[in-house]
Amino acid sequence: MKKVYIETMGCQMNKSDTERMLGMLDYCGYEETKEAKEADLLIINTCSIRKLSEDKAYSAIGVWGKWKKARPHIKIVFSGCVAQQDREEIFRRAPYVDLVLGTHNIYELPDLIKRINNGERICATPEVPFGEKDYSIKRVKSTGCWIPITEGCNNFCTYCIVPYTRGRERSRDMNTIIKEVKDAIKDGFKEITLLGQNVDSYGKDLEDCNLSKLLRELNSIEGQFRIRFVTSYPTDITDELIQTVNECDKVCEYFHIPMQSGSDYTLKKMNRRYDRKTYGEICHKIRTLVPDVTITSDFIAGFPGETEEQFEETLSAMREFELDYSNTAAYSPRKGTVAAKWTDLYIDEDVKFDRLARLNEVNRECCLKSNQKFIGRELEVLIEGFENHKGKNVITGRTRNNKIVHIPCDENLTGQFLTVKITGAKTWYLQGEMI
Ligand code: SAH
Ligand code: SF4
Ligand code: F3S
Repeated sequence: MKKVYIETMGCQMNKSDTERMLGMLDYCGYEETKEAKEADLLIINTCSIRKLSEDKAYSAIGVWGKWKKARPHIKIVFSGCVAQQDREEIFRRAPYVDLVLGTHNIYELPDLIKRINNGERICATPEVPFGEKDYSIKRVKSTGCWIPITEGCNNFCTYCIVPYTRGRERSRDMNTIIKEVKDAIKDGFKEITLLGQNVDSYGKDLEDCNLSKLLRELNSIEGQFRIRFVTSYPTDITDELIQTVNECDKVCEYFHIPMQSGSDYTLKKMNRRYDRKTYGEICHKIRTLVPDVTITSDFIAGFPGETEEQFEETLSAMREFELDYSNTAAYSPRKGTVAAKWTDLYIDEDVKFDRLARLNEVNRECCLKSNQKFIGRELEVLIEGFENHKGKNVITGRTRNNKIVHIPCDENLTGQFLTVKITGAKTWYLQGEMI
């Protein structure tokens, strides 16, 4: 068999695409290697969310180009979000690339591989509807797996590249998803994470279908497993969805709802379709209906024109809505987006990174406070790993509400559901004991 090495950058959607590409490549006679140097086929699956991730993609393949000079039979594929965005331009920046593979047509990979092996050089970035094909999926060995249910985005937040790299929102057929979940359960996966750039708008382009309906269908599949879904757009969270999370025993008490900013002015400039008050009301409703729920968020520091006062509103929102954890980032201008054109409003780099540090400080404070609430409680933990932590054997796992727990234990219990007594809380994890 020939060997393929794939380097995956970016979000879970990219990781899921990689698993699908590996399935197709297996069909084409390639086996995966973790050693780039011994590969006949090198693939970089790229992310474009910030400039740093894009730069990393280009610098990572520089060395592959050098290898190709010595071993010209090597083929190099540049895929993912930067591929979809930069298209033919990639051949100019990296002339040794054989295939530019956009996000819309990964299912064409077997045919495209055949063609590049025959000496063609191809840019495959058309925006086509889902052309799903039934190849096997080579999933990463783990307790959990990802299943995309919707892809793309129609929201066009002014800072964000995703609508350009992933195209318009498309929902996958419900029966295809149900079959994929059943197969994953049969293969031993214990936690299914449903993916979408706006997972809660699943089904808007289908007839008589939404996320609640899908969750109820999946919840009725037999077996002991958990279901999660990410990422939710705040105003697409319906009462029905909250009710469904509450009623379905397999659906975890966890919502990831990026707020981005606590300032109404900034939210408007970002083209987010809610204000601070509405976001707060959604959190409140969820917390009232779903006991022990974890709500996590994303925030951007230093959006063009953001004033110190507006930034402080973000800090106060994190505290006021008791967000359990937040991903944070400094604003990064993305070519082709609306906000990137507001160069006269760009925030000084020092100020931006100072704000990011302050955001992280409040995030740490919120996380610790959130974790401390669980001391003394007994929680169900799905064990994900066994490791030596500072000289002691520990098993690590995740609660239903997505908290990491470390438990002293000399036995590898990966894949088991345990009831654990929480004895301590650190910023990023809980400490527990087996009962
Ligand atoms: N669909 C989700 C977010 C997907 S992108 C939502 O709407 O909430 C993941 C996160 O990356 C975003 O929530 C945002 O916080 C961050 N992000 C996106 N574009 C960015 C940019 N240009 N600079 C900095 N952070 C960005
Ligand atoms: Fe990007 Fe906004 Fe779409 Fe999220 S909703 S993917 S932030 S454009
Ligand atoms: Fe990155 Fe594309 Fe995901 S830009 S975050 S890999 S959708």
